[in-house]
Amino acid sequence: MSDVVRYETQGRAAVITVDRPEKRNALNTQVRAGIKEALRRAAGDAAVRVAILTGAGDKAFIAGADIAEFEGKTAVQQWRDMSDGPVFDAPEQCPKPVIAAVNGFCLGGGMELALSCDIRIASSAAKFGQPEVNLGIIPGGGGTQRLPRVAGVGAALRLILTGEMIDAAEALRLGLVSEVTEPAQLMPRALAIAEVIASKSPVAVASAKQATRAALSLPLDEGLRMERSLFALCFASQDKIEGVKAFLEKRTPEFPGK
Ligand code: COA
Repeated sequence: MSDVVRYETQGRAAVITVDRPEKRNALNTQVRAGIKEALRRAAGDAAVRVAILTGAGDKAFIAGADIAEFEGKTAVQQWRDMSDGPVFDAPEQCPKPVIAAVNGFCLGGGMELALSCDIRIASSAAKFGQPEVNLGIIPGGGGTQRLPRVAGVGAALRLILTGEMIDAAEALRLGLVSEVTEPAQLMPRALAIAEVIASKSPVAVASAKQATRAALSLPLDEGLRMERSLFALCFASQDKIEGVKAFLEKRTPEFPGK
């Protein structure tokens, strides 16, 4: 589908791999379009329950925006590029869960994409940072908004103001990732998490993602109202009928996803 973004299915997971290892998987125009297209494809494929985003090679997840594309770019061009549904919002807006399997440098826009994913796991070789200040710019893909929400304002400001990189152990300590694996175990672990989610009700999983995501943008009373509405909506699903019936019959549920 794209020369620089691979799309493969493994079991019930779509594995989306940014494939520009010679440029540390930097996000150029093609990569941004390829990731958006791949997530749309995963969302539209009923056999896919979860997407996993990762980078090709053993050096980088995504080393940020392609800095070569910044040269000579005007403010208006940059604004236009980012006003058409930024790639950085795509994982968050995908109705299915998206897991970031961070296998190396996760910098700038790479970090911002990972922050938009629902679950982040990292290899022990991963490095994280928001180095935009080194280039005379600031994070523009959600870093100033999502990083404080994930890791707290103090940690976010330290990373954003210094541009310094941190290793996987520190990312774990800050809550930026939920676990760290040996490099060879990263994809097996991401696929195992995907398979656990895939075994649940797709209706419940999509509703849970939507309700939990709303916690960060809605006032509490509106968020609680939304949660209750989605909870009630689940009662209209065949998945709920099957889940409850299977529990009472002491068997594993077979969710139809409706
Ligand atoms: N944009 C464009 N090209 C990039 C890139 C980026 N964000 N990150 C790496 N590359 C390119 C390098 O220019 C180099 O290209 P070349 O071989 O044609 O010279 C190639 O990828 C390998 O990079 P190199 O720096 O030699 O690899 P490294 O393993 O020693 O270091 C990084 C890797 C990621 C630490 C380093 O490349 C880096 O600091 N990149 C920029 C990160 C950044 O500032 N991102 C935020 C952008 S807003």
